[in-house]
Amino acid sequence: MRPLRLALSVVSAAVVLGGQLTLAGSAPAGATPSAAKPSPPPTYPADSLRALAARVGLRIGTAVNPDLLGTNEKYTQIAAEQFSSITPENAMKWAEVEAVRGTYTWEKADQVVAFAKKNKQLVRGHTLVWHNQLPAWLSSDGTTTTLSNDEVKAVLKKHIFDQVRHFKGDVWQWDVVNEAFDDNGQPRQTIWYKAWGGTGYIADAFRWAHQADPKALLFYNDYNLEFTGVKSDAVYAMVRSLQAQRVPIHGVGFQGHLSTQYGYPDLTNNLERFAALGLKVALTEVDVRTQTRPDAVNEPVNPLAPYAQESYWSRTLQACLALRACISFTPWGFGDAYSWVPGWFTDPQEGAALIYDEQLNPKGQYEVLQQALALASGAPRR
Ligand code: G3I
Repeated sequence: MRPLRLALSVVSAAVVLGGQLTLAGSAPAGATPSAAKPSPPPTYPADSLRALAARVGLRIGTAVNPDLLGTNEKYTQIAAEQFSSITPENAMKWAEVEAVRGTYTWEKADQVVAFAKKNKQLVRGHTLVWHNQLPAWLSSDGTTTTLSNDEVKAVLKKHIFDQVRHFKGDVWQWDVVNEAFDDNGQPRQTIWYKAWGGTGYIADAFRWAHQADPKALLFYNDYNLEFTGVKSDAVYAMVRSLQAQRVPIHGVGFQGHLSTQYGYPDLTNNLERFAALGLKVALTEVDVRTQTRPDAVNEPVNPLAPYAQESYWSRTLQACLALRACISFTPWGFGDAYSWVPGWFTDPQEGAALIYDEQLNPKGQYEVLQQALALASGAPRR
């Protein structure tokens, strides 16, 4: 890895200790008083992504798999040291938390929240209303269900209240509604759309989530919003309509699933126009895939592809850094071995989409993020 030379100035809320940052902070709620020996505060390298991001007031996040936290030492260490925000990649989805109707299984999601607390990270809750990864008792395809419209409405209300209350105070940002529009800018014909007879479920979902945890930041989250076009325009119109109805929506999440086979999107313009509505914005699921070998799914076919990927990563982070309204930047995982990309994009095969390789060694893509953060220190955010 190329060394990054940094002149570290005073880091607020942190103390530099021999190249490590120690997070200052009060004991967590519920900590045992006096007699019990307090556990030492977490430390992380001064040139870690999280340390560099802290200097510019940005949270840098990652999606995590709780099965690897605590079992894969290197994975666990990177997750703790490099990131200041955590999103459970799957553990908070409806199929995971209520596979059997009426029986909640919060263990894995709770494990992620506990990890975040231990490591002084914030949590992005993902996701309350989606048409994928629904439990089989509710819907196997997201568009059909055996439940009546009234039952669908009742179970969604219960799901939102139960889940948001379970994590009340522990989730910083919720992806309340995920991917409600298709690439043609049309509302998806999901079980939610059908039960409500339109997109009215979106306003209800935000209102219920707000009632359940008034302090959580509530986001609409989608992919391809990075590009100007019918989809981004449709979401923009929807958000304005929610605001006109005084629906408590606080932010829009740009997933940021990018590929070098497409041109770089006009992300800056799109972040800006949503931010101009008075909303927070966030990059929530960033990865930059490229064409790879079918027999080695994380090896780019073109040896120059990593340079294009570095450029996409760098520009995406810089677009967020330029805006004060952009409060977090979250890659969708960090190790190529654990990315959803190679299993999903197979024709042509794509992969190598994350910032660490299959052995969890940092790639050039990691270094450009480090550099963008270091260079942003002191630069004004609009
Ligand atoms: O847990 C089961 C396991 O028991 C089973 O043996 C195995 C066999 O297929 O499947 C496992 O479940 C998989 C799950 O990930 C957990 O690994 C599902 O098949 C698989 O479909 C699921 O994929 C997830 C995908 O969402 C589902 O739509 C990806 O991990 C996850 O990264 C991806 O994340 C989404 C965001 O939530 C929303 N935006 C797009 C993004 C990428 O698709």
